[in-house]
Amino acid sequence: MDTKTVLITGASSGIGKIIAEYLNERGYSVLGTSRNPASVSDISFPLLTLDVTSDESVSQLVHQLEADGTRVDVLINNAGYGLAGPLENFTMDEARAQFETNFFGVVRMVNAFLPVLRRQGGGVIINTGSMAGLIGLPFQGHYSASKYALEGYLAALRMEVLPFNIRVFNINPGDFRTGFTANRRIIGTVDPIYRRKFDQLLTMYEHDENNGAYPIIIARKIEKLIRKTGGYKVRYVIGKFDQVVGVPLKRLLGDTLFEQLMMMFWKIKK
Ligand SMILES: NC(=O)c1ccc[n+]([C@@H]2O[C@H](COP(=O)([O-])OP(=O)(O)OC[C@H]3O[C@@H](n4cnc5c(N)ncnc54)[C@H](OP(=O)(O)O)[C@@H]3O)[C@@H](O)[C@H]2O)c1
Repeated sequence: MDTKTVLITGASSGIGKIIAEYLNERGYSVLGTSRNPASVSDISFPLLTLDVTSDESVSQLVHQLEADGTRVDVLINNAGYGLAGPLENFTMDEARAQFETNFFGVVRMVNAFLPVLRRQGGGVIINTGSMAGLIGLPFQGHYSASKYALEGYLAALRMEVLPFNIRVFNINPGDFRTGFTANRRIIGTVDPIYRRKFDQLLTMYEHDENNGAYPIIIARKIEKLIRKTGGYKVRYVIGKFDQVVGVPLKRLLGDTLFEQLMMMFWKIKK
């Protein structure tokens, strides 16, 4: 088997780092990225500079890889972060910033690397979406929206590029123990009217993340997807059973009943 080269965005920490280490150990040629590779230690694979919010940074990376004659067989769009706050209090700049990384960051990478994959005769694109892209999270509304946006984008992309032998997969993780919780940002102003509910839900989210699954299960699934040749699923929901069951439960109960159940769970009305 030829050694496949895998490019993983956001590989300095958390899910991206574990995927990179796992694939590296299994003989893939792994290239990770970070906005600031010099600040990252204890990494067993090359870490390249990339800010997915910058057109210039993305095109510099493409040119650098082309100049080095590096082939990319698999692109894993994983970089992302959470920005929390009541939706009413988000400034437009804050809302755009969330989308700039989580949604347009993926669009930027896909636009830059699709021509490369097409010229090579095919490839694989894997994206770290979220269960928040399937279930709306109160006080993480723009995070959820950025991940919901990915769902529609990837569904269309998958069909557009299949004729070019490019396979697109979407992973929807539940809660995982990573740097995500510490790296989550809070918007500049939280109106006191929302404060109690906001703090209460944020505490619940943090608790679930800190007790979440370990990303190795995502890495294992991704390795299988890279090697996959036959049929595919539109999404791969991964995480602890009590969380992933939410997706089939939503389908079974219907959107309205499921939302009412979630409001009871989150004690929204109290
Ligand atoms: N943890 C969870 O429970 C969970 C659940 C569902 C989905 N996810 C998704 O999983 C992905 C990875 O998150 P994680 O949990 O592993 O969090 P993490 O430990 O905070 O890692 C986030 C990674 O994204 C990179 N990143 C952030 N902004 C970037 C930018 N503008 N350009 C390039 N890289 C950037 C960071 O790299 P640098 O700071 O070094 O640039 C870091 O490597 C995200 O898309 C997140 O939404 C996480």
